[in-house]
Amino acid sequence: MDFQLMLAPMEEVTNDAFRTLCYNNGADMTFTEMVRVSNLAKAKKFETDRIRISNATPTQIQLAGAKINEYEKFLSSFKPENGFKSFNLNLGCPSPEFIRQGIGAAMVKRITRVNEIVKLIQKYGFECSIKMRLGVNNYEKMKGAYLNLINNVDASFFIVHSRTAKQRSNEPADFSVYYKCLDTGKLIVANGDIKTREKVLELKKMGLYGAMIGRAAIEDPLIFKELKV
Ligand SMILES: Cc1cc2nc3c(=O)[nH]c(=O)nc-3n(C[C@H](O)[C@H](O)[C@H](O)COP(=O)(O)O)c2cc1C
Repeated sequence: MDFQLMLAPMEEVTNDAFRTLCYNNGADMTFTEMVRVSNLAKAKKFETDRIRISNATPTQIQLAGAKINEYEKFLSSFKPENGFKSFNLNLGCPSPEFIRQGIGAAMVKRITRVNEIVKLIQKYGFECSIKMRLGVNNYEKMKGAYLNLINNVDASFFIVHSRTAKQRSNEPADFSVYYKCLDTGKLIVANGDIKTREKVLELKKMGLYGAMIGRAAIEDPLIFKELKV
């Protein structure tokens, strides 16, 4: 299995053109910016436009939300376009509004609901991966909330952004968590502060399935070529 280099989902950045640019320059998989399932269920055009895939660029559509009826409504009329590969659930958004609503990073501990959503997506014949943080805060991280989720959800792979929702993006990502993640036996993709070939090689040697690149791809969308190992 080849080590996968993935373009991170980024609002206002990873549109169709940006995803295609990164794919043509070495990214193995790309992700749409996050879209709210509540808007998709109502077929709101500004949201459905954000998940259009105009070509064969391998793309996962990232969904945020926790209401089963909204997923059901959206999925019942969803028609995959050319490059569509899978759905991805957002269990990482740190916005206080999301946390209050029990979505984004607050869903890391909502294992039953996450399982229901993943199973529903699979029932419609689609794959589902997960992008997550380590929990809302350090307490959840220490309690191993992220490991409980990885152990108990049957997703195709887990992208672990190794910070809690409370941590700012200038605080260093905690790469030590990946050993515990790998012990679950699941496919794990690392995310957070990855920008050099040396780091990618180190992650590959650890046994990770891939590395997801965000801000470094904004600085240089051609970086995937340099990072190929
Ligand atoms: C401008 C911007 C927008 C982002 N939007 C999303 C998003 O829509 N969904 C998501 O899961 N993460 C989002 N993120 C987080 C990134 O996907 C990634 O997890 C984070 O930037 C850490 O990776 P990096 O150090 O490689 O940038 C965003 C990050 C940035 C900088």
